[in-house]
Amino acid sequence: MFLEASKVLRHPRCANCHPDGDVPLQAMEAVPHEPPVTRGPADRGVVGMECTSCHQDRNLENARVPGAPNWHLAPREMAWVGKSPRFICEQMKDPRRNGGKSLAQIVHHNAHDELVAWGWLPGHGREPAPGTQAQFGELVAAWVETGAECPDEGAQP
Ligand code: HEC
Ligand code: HEC
Repeated sequence: MFLEASKVLRHPRCANCHPDGDVPLQAMEAVPHEPPVTRGPADRGVVGMECTSCHQDRNLENARVPGAPNWHLAPREMAWVGKSPRFICEQMKDPRRNGGKSLAQIVHHNAHDELVAWGWLPGHGREPAPGTQAQFGELVAAWVETGAECPDEGAQP
C-alpha cells in the first residue's frame, strides 16, 4: 500500500518541496528553483527573499506563481528526493523526523493539509499529483489501519 502512496509522495508536485538540500525544486524535471532561493534558517527563505514575498495563499495565474497558505519548504529531515519508498515510509512514521506527528495526524495531514492540497490544484498547466487528495487520504488511512508496513528496500512502485 505504501508503494502505491509513494507514486504521489515522489511526484514532483510533492517532492519539489521536500528536497534533500537547501533549494526548492521546480517543474516535472525537478530542476533547482529559478530565481535562486534557499531555505534559510526556518525553511521560509532569507530576509528579502522570503517564500511568501512571491508565493501568495493561492495560485497567481497571470504571474504563473504557485501559491497556497503558509508556503514554505519541508524541513530537511523530511527530504524525499532521491530516497527509496522504504526510507520515506520509515521517515513518515518516525515522530523525531515527521514533526512529532502520530499516525492519526499523518493521515489527517495527507488528507487535509493545504500545502498537500495544492499538489492536486497546482495551477498554470502543471501536472497534478496522481488521483485525488480524497483517494490519497483513504489510501494512507488504509495503510495505517493495516499496520503501517513499509516496503522492502529496493521495492519500486
Ligand atoms: C509548498 C511546499 C510543500 C508542498 C508542495 C508539499 N509539502 Fe509536504 N510539507 C511541507 C512542509 C513545510 C511540511 C512540514 C510542516 C508540518 O509538519 O506541518 C510538510 C510536511 C509533510 C508531511 C508530514 C511530515 C512527513 O514528512 O512525514 C507529509 C505527510 C507531507 N508533507 C505530504 C505531502 C504531500 C503528499 C504532498 C503533495 C501532494 C506535499 N506534502 C507537498 C511543504 C510542502
Ligand atoms: C522571487 C520570487 C520567488 C521567491 C522568493 C520564491 N519563489 Fe518559488 N517560485 C517562484 C515562481 C515564479 C515559480 C514558478 C516557476 C514556473 O513554474 O515557471 C516558483 C515555483 C516554485 C516551486 C515549484 C512548484 C512545482 O512543482 O513546479 C516550488 C516548490 C517553490 N517555488 C518553492 C519556493 C520556496 C519553498 C520558497 C522559499 C524558500 C520560494 N519558492 C521562494 C517565485 C519565487
